[in-house]
Amino acid sequence: MLVHFVTDEPTKIPAIRAMLEPRYHVVPQLLGGGVTQISSNGALMVDADLRKKVRVEQIRLVLLELSCIPEKLFIVRNHARSMVAQAYALGATAVVSRPREIIFKLAQIEVAEKAARTDFAINSREIADGAATFSSMFSAVRCVKPINLSDAERATSEIINSIAQSGLSAWLDHVRRYHEGTFQHCLLVAGVAVGFAMDIGFASLDVRRLGIAATLHDIGKARIPLSILDKPGRLDPAEEEIMRRHPVIGYELLKDISGVSPEILDGVRHHHEYLDGSGYPDALMAPEISDLVRLLTISDIFAALIESRPYSAAISRQDAYKILCGMDGKLERSLVKAFRNVALVA
Ligand SMILES: [Fe+2]
Ligand SMILES: [Fe+2]
Repeated sequence: MLVHFVTDEPTKIPAIRAMLEPRYHVVPQLLGGGVTQISSNGALMVDADLRKKVRVEQIRLVLLELSCIPEKLFIVRNHARSMVAQAYALGATAVVSRPREIIFKLAQIEVAEKAARTDFAINSREIADGAATFSSMFSAVRCVKPINLSDAERATSEIINSIAQSGLSAWLDHVRRYHEGTFQHCLLVAGVAVGFAMDIGFASLDVRRLGIAATLHDIGKARIPLSILDKPGRLDPAEEEIMRRHPVIGYELLKDISGVSPEILDGVRHHHEYLDGSGYPDALMAPEISDLVRLLTISDIFAALIESRPYSAAISRQDAYKILCGMDGKLERSLVKAFRNVALVA
């Protein structure tokens, strides 16, 4: 692990090296000594006279450069009260005094960093697998080849595992950082739907059923021209009319594939229906809209709102949830209420 050691005394550098190397890689930085090496991992350790105003200002500048490093350890000998207060004012996450405390704190940071890296690796691999599966399903449909249902089942299992292990927020953040367009949308909808089903206590079979419906819900978009699908900005009425065909196209693509259940077909065809009959393609009314579809529609709208797009700013999860709350009459109020935890906390 990297330890960025910031000090006002060149003589302190060999001493800290003798204490920490070779277990840690010490990167020294002398205050007032020039450019800071930018980094976002490891730990930052500051050992300087915090009673001197000029030092405090120099530390402030270095901390700005290294603001991505979450752990900031300050060494204050004998825990001198005024220096401890100054350290916390500068953003210290811990104040240590003796070598034993320093070693102990760094070991704690190292364990936490390793755990975070493992989480990241698991999540990244599962997202990459999920995205690859979506990609192969979409290219199959574009090339008029049959859809392989086991691809959708595998992608859904990967999403369920990832969310069970690392939570929905980690999934949403990673997907929005690394994927674009329709893939990003499908990965987000599937993640949100799975997170929603888990949060309201669905049995694992039902989590999986909703997850597969979410994974496949926009498969019909694979037959929409890319000039419409990837158009940056609003669609004109003719393009909108073509785009609105995707639920029926998806239904037609899946209806004869063995293993695709009626619930999945219902989700694919009806995820743009609203309780007041204003949705499409069949203008269903509330009694005709199943629970699975109601959950899927909420997940779909929320995911579409929080997508990161190259041509417009992303809406925060809070604002997206407010928009859902304003769709009274179209979405089931009790489900939107139950979704609050997923939208804002999970
Ligand atoms: Fe859709
Ligand atoms: Fe969608």
